This record gives sequence, structure tokens and C-alpha cells, in this order.
Amino acid sequence: MASSTLICDTPQWKDLKAHVEDIKNTHLRDLMTDSDRCKSFITEFDGIILDYSRQRVIPPTLDKLFQLAEAARLKEKIDSMYNGEKINSTENRSVLHVALRAARDKVIQSDGKNVVPDVWHVLDQIKEFSERIRSGSWVGATGKALKDVVAVGIGGSFLGPLFVHTALQTDPEAAECAKGRQLRFLANVDPIDVARSVAGLNPETTLVVVVSKTFTTAETMLNARTLREWISGALGHQAVAKHMVAVSTNLTLVEKFGIDPANAFAFWDWVGGRYSVCSAVGVLPLSLQYGFPVVQKFLNGAESIDDHFHSTPFEKNIPVLLGLLSVWNVSFLGYPARAILPYSQALEKFAPHIQQVSMESNGKGVSIDGIPLPFETGEIDFGEPGTNGQHSFYQLIHQGRIIPCDFIGVMRSQQPIYLKGEVVSNHDELMSNFFAQPDALAYGKAPEQLFNEKVPNHLIPHKTFLGNRPSLSLLLPTLNAYNIGQLLAIYEHRIAVEGFVWGINSFDQWGVELGKSLASQVRKQLHLSRTKGTPVEGFNLSTTTLLSRYLE
Ligand code: F6P
Repeated sequence: MASSTLICDTPQWKDLKAHVEDIKNTHLRDLMTDSDRCKSFITEFDGIILDYSRQRVIPPTLDKLFQLAEAARLKEKIDSMYNGEKINSTENRSVLHVALRAARDKVIQSDGKNVVPDVWHVLDQIKEFSERIRSGSWVGATGKALKDVVAVGIGGSFLGPLFVHTALQTDPEAAECAKGRQLRFLANVDPIDVARSVAGLNPETTLVVVVSKTFTTAETMLNARTLREWISGALGHQAVAKHMVAVSTNLTLVEKFGIDPANAFAFWDWVGGRYSVCSAVGVLPLSLQYGFPVVQKFLNGAESIDDHFHSTPFEKNIPVLLGLLSVWNVSFLGYPARAILPYSQALEKFAPHIQQVSMESNGKGVSIDGIPLPFETGEIDFGEPGTNGQHSFYQLIHQGRIIPCDFIGVMRSQQPIYLKGEVVSNHDELMSNFFAQPDALAYGKAPEQLFNEKVPNHLIPHKTFLGNRPSLSLLLPTLNAYNIGQLLAIYEHRIAVEGFVWGINSFDQWGVELGKSLASQVRKQLHLSRTKGTPVEGFNLSTTTLLSRYLE
């Protein structure tokens, strides 16, 4: 396929379009009776089991998806990413988050330079710094140890670290390492978030970590100034050097802000914001809270999936299979949304993180060459842990719209409870739902069944479930730091696969710029109106009316 040809113009895409007709006549209820099919749709790697037998696919669908992958030059694109080619062409950048978790002796190049030693230089710096903070050898301005950390950042400089922190909190080994320490996040510029983030904290024992790739994001910089004030107001200006550090690619602006460059932890333009949790963005706050060795295990888990993704044939390659199935659901079956349903409260912040990784990466309107796309890309991601979600939005998933679901479960709970007299443990109770829901969605419940159960006639339509609703199940051994790293990398690569097949640039985010520049015009107007009484002008009637009322 020539690089300027859209994927939808290839015979492989058209073949899949035609194949939808074959699938329309199938029902998962029948497909699930084929044991050979089911067996071939379960794959396993490094303790993780993927079962995609409840997707609306038959073996020829998979063959056709692999042919589509070939037409999209998927293998070549994956290799280009690992080889450090500038695949983020609109920003002229390599995409090398895999280098962030590469073993010390690996060689990964960007601009002809092996970046792995740079990565390890910062990791070593973080290890040393976090040990000093945790051991109390680095103390605050009044000589007290810093036991609490507030990480200030937004978007990719917040969501990934929050997801990992929330998950690690319940892992006994990690929790033990975090005893007596607190890690909080401040993302929203809403003053309520500021108040919440420092409520009950003492500036004398708090370290503020300002996390921003660009060090220009309006919300983060205002929040950073507010917390600088919080520190210097209580402890004097000199205290900033002891109580504030930064993570950024822009060390010049870090210094200008007043943070000693010696206390800044670098990363690089080849790390996209939403792919940055394995850089100092996540590694620093998480190491301060849990210690570097725990975070190292998280990086190892991600690295294991990186190697699998890079070297495993597509038929057994978990991120590739997931990515191709997403393309099938979105572009061929016409299901635009995806529910992420972890049966683990520890993964409560996983869906919000994946929302950014997926929707900021793949919500694009043009091909990587700038050609408007005649098909839609990206998925609408949302989710909640089970079983909570079951009592919230599952009604719509069962009897309303068709939304492919990712069920994520863990085999062993990190915090098992065995109540005397209960038939099953809490975790078994949770997992009973994890195993039951995919079948409920796939099989549904036919009117005849209800009739045989003597359901009154007038209720039969209401109690009928059409079924044939696709889902997939991912089963993890447990949820320790290593498994959390694996899960993260599986989704990151899956999203890249989708973008590679659609032929878009999954690594830029121009769509967030317009809102930012309009907000800066409003900010200017608010400033002028408040300080000089300048009337609101230059906006449409709607905005003028609302702004004027707001200023009253
Ligand atoms: O929302 C847009 C965005 O640029 C994200 O891609 C990024 O994660 C976030 O803002 C924060 O950016 P920074 O780390 O530069 O403050």
C-alpha cells in the first residue's frame, strides 16, 4: 500500500466490509458451542490469559484482520517505533516510551543515539533521591523529614501515576513500603482541588513535585505557584529549594520558576505525555511513596509486554490481537464505544487513564499524511470496576446499546477475606460476576426460555435479552507491581496498533489546542474587566451574555 493510500481503499478493508454480512448471520450463542473455535481464541503470555472467544469473530475474520494488518504495514510500523524513527511526524519526534522500561544493557536509538543510558541516568538519580527522602537524610527547611508528597500535574502528567498509585496501594508488599507516607495529586485548577490536596498536610513535612512535560500548562503552573506560596508563606522563600522539585523536559523553565535544576528530573520529547508514566513523571512520585525497588518491578512488567509485542507473531500477540479486534468492532461492526470493566477495586483509576491514552491518541480526523478520513477513528472509552458498574450502567449494555466490553480479572486477591460460614470468599463472589457477565452478554435470554419459566406474557419482552454482545476477558495472576506494568503496556500497545491500522498519528494531540487558546482570550478579558472595568467584547452573544453575568 502506498503511504498516501487510505486503509479504507484497500481490498483487505473492503473484504472485511463484505465479511460483516457473514458475521451478521451468526450468534455468539452458537459460536460458543464450537470448542475448537473457543480454544483457538484463548492465548496466554507471562501469566496473563486473553480469551476473545466472545468477540463476534470466526477464524476467517482473524485471517482477514491479519491481512488488513499487512496492508497497513503494521509490523513495519511497530519496528519503526522501536527503531526510534520519527513516527510522530507532525511533531517530528520518535515515540520511545518502550525505552523507559528497557533493561540497562538494551540499545534503543533516537537520532542515532542510544537513549537507554540517559533513561538509566535519571532512574539512578530518582533511586538515590527517593532513598534520601524516605530515609530522612534529606530534610525540610525546619529539619523535619518529608513524609508527604503532593504531585502537581494534569493529563498525562497525572492520570497514569494516579492509576498506578491507586493500584499499588492495595498490594501488601507495596503498602508495607509506603507505611507512614502519603502521596496526593493536584490536577484540577479548581480551588477545591487545591484545598483538598493539602488538607491536613503540614508544609514542614511536605515535598511538592511539579510534573509537566512542557512546564507551560496553565493549570499546572498556576497550581505550582499556589503551592509555592503555600510553602514559602509558611516557611519562608528559602524553603522552596528543600520542598519543591520538578519533572520536565523543559529544564530552563524549571529553573526560571525557581526550582534548583539539581532537583529536576528530566525526560525527553520522545515520550508522549500520555505515555509518560514510566518516565520520571510516574517513577519519581511512586518511588517516593513505595521505594524504587517496587517501581522497578512495575517497569519490568511493562518491559515484558514490550518484548512480547515486538517479537511475537501476530496470532499470539496480545496487544496486536486486542488492537485488531478493536478495529473490527469500531470500523466494521460499527460499535464506537468500549467499556473497561476491571473486577478489581484497585484498578478503579485504570479506565480514566486509558480514556486519555486511547481518546487523545486515536480521536483523529485525518490520516498521518493529512488526508481527511472518510471513516471514524478512536473509541469512546469508559468504565468502572465491577461489580459497582453492574449496578450503574450495565442495564444499557445488556438490553440497550451494543458496547464491546473488556472484563479484567485477577486470579488471587491481594487482600482476601474468608468469612466464617460464607460459602465463597469475597474474591470468589467478585469473580463469580466476572465469569458470569460475559456469558450473559453473549447468550442473552430468549423469549422461549422465559415462557418455559412461566414468566407472564406481558413481561416476556421486558425480560428478553437478545445477547450476541461481544466482550473479551483478561485474567491476571494477581495485581502486584509487575502485573500492573504488564496491564499498562498491553493497553498502550493495543492503542498504537489501532492507530497504525487506521493510518493516523496516534502520538500528537492538536485537538486540545483550540480550547486552550480560546481560554486564554477569556482569561485576558476577565483580567481586564476585573482590573480596569473593560466591558466584555469580541465574543459572540452567548459568551458575552454569560461572561457579563459571571462578572456581575
Ligand atoms: O491535554 C493536553 C496535554 O498536552 C496532554 O497531552 C498532556 O498530558 C497534558 O496536556 C499535560 O501537559 P504537560 O505535562 O506539558 O503539563
